[in-house]
Amino acid sequence: MDSAQRYNEEKKYSGSSGPRATIRLSGGGRYAGSCGQVMMNAELQAQVTFDVASIRADFPILARTIYRQRPLVYFDNASTTQHPQTVLAAMERMYRERYANVHRGIHYLSEQASAAYEAARETVRALIGAERAHEIIFTSGTTASINLVARSWGDANVGPGDEILLTIAEHHSNIVPWQQLAARRGALVRFCELSFDPEADLESFRRQLSSKTRIAAFSAVSNVLGYRFPVKEMVAAARQAGARTLIDAAQHVPHEPTNVRDWGCDFLAFSGHKMLGPTGIGVLYGKESLLDAMPPFLGGGSMIQSVTRDGFVPGELPAKFEAGTPPIVEAIGLAAAADYLSEIGFERISEHERILVQRMHARLGEVAAVHILGPACAHKGGIVGFGVTGTSHFDLAVHLDLQGYAVRLGHHCAMPLHQFLGRHDSLRASFYLYNTLAEVDGFVEALQAALQHLRG
Ligand SMILES: Cc1ncc(COP(=O)(O)O)c(C=O)c1O
Repeated sequence: MDSAQRYNEEKKYSGSSGPRATIRLSGGGRYAGSCGQVMMNAELQAQVTFDVASIRADFPILARTIYRQRPLVYFDNASTTQHPQTVLAAMERMYRERYANVHRGIHYLSEQASAAYEAARETVRALIGAERAHEIIFTSGTTASINLVARSWGDANVGPGDEILLTIAEHHSNIVPWQQLAARRGALVRFCELSFDPEADLESFRRQLSSKTRIAAFSAVSNVLGYRFPVKEMVAAARQAGARTLIDAAQHVPHEPTNVRDWGCDFLAFSGHKMLGPTGIGVLYGKESLLDAMPPFLGGGSMIQSVTRDGFVPGELPAKFEAGTPPIVEAIGLAAAADYLSEIGFERISEHERILVQRMHARLGEVAAVHILGPACAHKGGIVGFGVTGTSHFDLAVHLDLQGYAVRLGHHCAMPLHQFLGRHDSLRASFYLYNTLAEVDGFVEALQAALQHLRG
């Protein structure tokens, strides 16, 4: 559907839409308690632990309207997130006042830029509880971080007959690099199927581990279902089997407290743009002893100690894995985002999302033909994936968009998961700290109106 068609569709649709919720935290009506149970507004309101209205005021984009003056309701946070003023200001200030290349000059600006870049690394170290700043490698995102490990650690440590263990819920970023590694090295990729009950899934995971498993790579939170994996226990089981672990924390670090030492994982990857930061910056955490032993992945400037006609000597960590000019301003933006989130508190952010998910589960339960996918909300982060029987998901997503609701439709880069669930695609609403209960209510009402309209 092009924009002209959308405009016409909107004109048709606007006469029959359901009530459009205003953006507010409290108001009349019921709110959801635990999955499926409905709680009074005041009860749930009392659980909200921070002032969402003042948080929203920090995000300029949330004040804008779309189409015909409809408030924007942004439920596509698992894909990418919006930016608070502090992140925008930190990046602008860096470009305006301190911009130069890092680690390459002795001039004033270069020194300032280098100091800011290394301070950003320290901020990320503290964010995930790593022991040493040089265990933090800046990359372009989760995808780049996982590819780095699969290429550098994988080529050196995985051989014919070895196994790589994944779960069926992985994002393609945590599947394809391992499939490529397996093809290069004659290894096998195994998938742990899931029941979305953490205890049962931990058992299945254990059963798939063997002395052949060289690495287990899995997400902390599924980007489709919001399923929270029992990370610490899975890491311990893999370690007991003699396997290394990589955690795809793209949907965890932005939303909950993360501590790599508590988890005991070997590697961890996440992206800046899913946590209020800019695109083009991500993080690979690796244990020092592993990173030290790994060969560089990309070759070029900055990653060497010396180069002669005959070869090169790689530099120390973290430079060894940061060839070329790094994403300097993006790293400053990521650090500003981490500071913003830390100040609010990750416990409170995850609690807020839990309340939104509970409400969404309860309200979607009232809509006939809607099937929520995956686990009960007790085992979920702030993501709700669902399907609707008998109506085109595409048409629904377009109608919701015309009402101002940004949700995602498709396989969400998790085709094996959808094959496992016996589905071609799904709809996904994913929340963040700036979303409100009123938005959830408005969404379900808009969904009901869209279903009524489409079914005629
Ligand atoms: C769980 C998970 N892993 C990996 C990725 C890939 O992240 P990026 O595109 O920032 O590299 C995503 C993005 O949606 C994700 O949700």
